This record gives sequence, structure tokens and C-alpha cells, in this order.
Amino acid sequence: MSSTDSTAALVSLRNVSKRFANGTLALQGMSLNVGEHDFISFLGPSGCGKSTALRLVAGLTRISSGEMQWSTGAAAGQGAGKIDRDLGFVFQEPTLMPWAKVFDNVWLPLKLTGVSRDAAAPVVKQALEMVGLSRFADVYPRELSGGMKMRVSIARALVTRPRLLLMDEPFAALDEMTRIKLNNDLLAIWREHRFSVIFVTHSVYESVYLSNRIVVMAARPGRVIDEIRIDEPYPRGEAFRTSSRYNAHCQAVSQSLHGALHDVDH
Ligand SMILES: Nc1ncnc2c1ncn2[C@@H]1O[C@H](COP(=O)(O)OP(=O)(O)OP(=O)(O)O)[C@@H](O)[C@H]1O
Ligand SMILES: [Mg+2]
Repeated sequence: MSSTDSTAALVSLRNVSKRFANGTLALQGMSLNVGEHDFISFLGPSGCGKSTALRLVAGLTRISSGEMQWSTGAAAGQGAGKIDRDLGFVFQEPTLMPWAKVFDNVWLPLKLTGVSRDAAAPVVKQALEMVGLSRFADVYPRELSGGMKMRVSIARALVTRPRLLLMDEPFAALDEMTRIKLNNDLLAIWREHRFSVIFVTHSVYESVYLSNRIVVMAARPGRVIDEIRIDEPYPRGEAFRTSSRYNAHCQAVSQSLHGALHDVDH
């Protein structure tokens, strides 16, 4: 299915643009269908509108023109409350409450919808289990490594069992080994729980490893210049990461991206 097909989409964007009050055209004419169980990466240079596009999908920023439609029929983009529980958002910084234990950080999205601590306990425990942190429910964020904090942030995003997980450069600040481990664990969680992902990254290697679709973007104005499918089976592991097919995909995506960078020079 290409990005412009109109069938079986969880959320679809049609010719969506975003102009900020200061006149910056952050995103121009973006069309995209996010299908059930897609793993989509937004890849592109700084300022090409990746975060803006993600925030539009999340309803955190209003679209200036175009249409966004959820499969439930709820029109989003105007901060429609109806869609809130259908998505989870993970930022580059884990953004945990330092004064609250891991359990309470993960409980937060449920607490905000009126679920008591006791009632939430089983699902909070499940979410911590998903990210491998069952034993850390009672510790404070300061006692955790950067990778573990990011795991808590992922558990918090998944505790409402959203259909769509939005991730904005979630592993950019982590060391290489931790990033690889989190990539693998994220793929395992995604395969088991079958939600869809939009993953923002600067890394060609990370996007090829994770995604079934890569949306390549260019800046000034922010726009989509290419969509590349990575038709490789899951699970993907070290055998895939070290394969010639993986390298070939990385080369093709790099070439597309260099086209994007070239555009910026003109
Ligand atoms: N709130 C805002 N007001 C005005 N301009 C903005 C705002 N947010 C983003 N922009 C501009 O919109 C463009 C796209 O920004 P955006 O943050 O979406 O890019 P990005 O692809 O996420 O970049 P990065 O890789 O650096 O995170 C940039 O030119 C940016 O300066
Ligand atoms: Mg960004």
C-alpha cells in the first residue's frame, strides 16, 4: 500500500501543511496513510518538519490546511480529545517526574483519566514487564540509567494500549550499544502487541533496521520527497543488521536523503 492509498488506514493525512505564526512553512503538502501495524520512520535533515508532522498527528499542533482523518472517523488536528487514548508519545528526553517512583510515572496517563492507583496496578505492571523493568517499580528515576529511563517513558506511552505510538528521536541521546538493545526490544514489543509506530530519526541505519516504510523528508519548506519500503521479514536481528541486503537498503536510503540535503543548498 502506498502513502496515498485510501484503504485500511489508521490515520491518514491529505495534503497537510503547517505554517507557524511567524510565517515559517514547517510542512508543505504532506500525504500519508498510517496502516495497522506499520512501522514508519520519518527521516530527514534538521528542520524538515519531522517533529511538526508528529505533533500534528498527536493533535499537539493544529494543521493550517489539508485534512487528517482517523479510522474511527474522528477528525483530528484541532486537539480533539476523542483520539487521546489512541496514541502514546515518546520524546527524545524521557520527561519523567523526578519526585515520583517508576510505578507512579507509568500510572500517570491512567491517573489523568481517573483510574485509581489500585485499579491501574495490573496494567502498570504489565507495561513495566513489556520493557523489562518489572523489578524497578519502586525506584526513583534518578536511580536509573539513561536507557532505563527511556524504557519507563515507553512503558508510560504504552500503558493505555494505544493503537499508534509516536516517537521523536527517542534513542538519539543513548550510547550505541544501548540504542541497539532498545531497537531490538522495541521491535519485539511492536511485534507482540501489534500497534503502529511513527518513529522520527536522523539515522539511516536505525530507520532501515526498524521500519517497513521510510518517509524521506527535505527542509525549507519541510516536505516529503520520497517513500521507501523495506520489504524484509521480521524478526530482524544481527543477521539482518550485518547482511548485504541491509547495506543495500542503507545505501538506497542514503542516496535519497542526500538528494534532500542537496535540495537545501539551492
Ligand atoms: N513553534 C514554532 N514556531 C515557529 N517555527 C517553528 C516552530 N516549531 C518549529 N518551527 C520551524 O519549523 C521547521 C520544522 O521544524 P521541526 O522541529 O518540525 O523540524 P525537525 O525535522 O523536527 O528538526 P530536528 O531534526 O532538528 O528536530 C523549522 O524551520 C523550525 O524552525
Ligand atoms: Mg525534531
